Amino acid sequence: MQNKISQYTAEINAFQSAHAEEIETFRIRFLGSKGIIKDLFEEFKTVSSEEKRIMGKVLNELKQLTEAKYQSLKEGLNTVTETFKTEADLTLPGQGIELGSRHPISLVRKEIIEIFKKLGFNVTEGPEIEDDWHNFSALNFPEEHPARDMQDTFFVSLNPTLSKGEGEEAFALRTHTSSVQVRMMENGQPPFRAIMPGRVYRNEAISARAHCFFHQVEGLYIDENVSFADLKQTLFYFVKELFGDDTKVRFRPSYFPFTEPSAEMDISCTICKGTGCPLCKQSGWVEILGCGMVDPNVLENCKIDSQKYTGFAFGMGIERITNLKYQIKDLRLFSENDIRFLQQFQSELI
Ligand code: PHE
Repeated sequence: MQNKISQYTAEINAFQSAHAEEIETFRIRFLGSKGIIKDLFEEFKTVSSEEKRIMGKVLNELKQLTEAKYQSLKEGLNTVTETFKTEADLTLPGQGIELGSRHPISLVRKEIIEIFKKLGFNVTEGPEIEDDWHNFSALNFPEEHPARDMQDTFFVSLNPTLSKGEGEEAFALRTHTSSVQVRMMENGQPPFRAIMPGRVYRNEAISARAHCFFHQVEGLYIDENVSFADLKQTLFYFVKELFGDDTKVRFRPSYFPFTEPSAEMDISCTICKGTGCPLCKQSGWVEILGCGMVDPNVLENCKIDSQKYTGFAFGMGIERITNLKYQIKDLRLFSENDIRFLQQFQSELI
């Protein structure tokens, strides 16, 4: 009998379960009216009176142990069902939560914004559907400028029965975020110091090098006595922060309707460091942005005194900068949602 009791004690101590049926089976087996404890008490009647003195105590302890075990198992079960109200097997491993990653365009946009914020630039946004004034006319585009042509611009008709020029104001998907600069200048007074990140649209055939939409960050700085030297220093700082101290910069004269003088800015090729490679077409230089001093006509269009204020503006494509930073050769990758491409930026999660 002594042996049996120690065996049962070990078994009861080891028993664990979070299932109602198993706990009930345990109860019936040990504490039921035909259960093990009952049987042991029957057997107890047959032992000698000398043995009874020892076995009585041991047997009572076993009974108490079993009852306590049953109570605690039942309590455990109640809290589990109250919390989760489920019959599911809670011991199964869970389903892992997959971590997403930031899109490379978002990563680079954030990096560009952070750099200009350090120079005191605010972030301003505007609508993607623009009227002719904000996208073109206020920016000094002449009536016959080719950018207004259907080949470059997606026009939007609010009344599909009318064609362009038929008494309806022309709306377009903005072709650059310079439109946001106009909105900002119209709605406030200098000084202005802001950057405008956003998506822009151009009617181009989709290929590895061109897309019908892409992303820009443009910038505007208007105050008294702002000069081309300020423009250069701002962009020098930007390039060194983004691409590193050893990056070289050069300006080439250019033309934009809204800036005078205008320039395009190149940096030394990030791949070959200026020695010549396919990316820079062996020239050692890659163009990254357009810039210039804001044309006085644009200031006047926005009711800003061009005698008192001057300023500079610049604009760059985020895709181009991303290509240079991560050596992505095909623009289409950015909008195909190919998880194998996007997952490579996992480690960049911020
Ligand atoms: N708006 C020009 C573009 O989209 C970029 C630019 C901005 C150039 C400001 C000069 C000054 O190409």
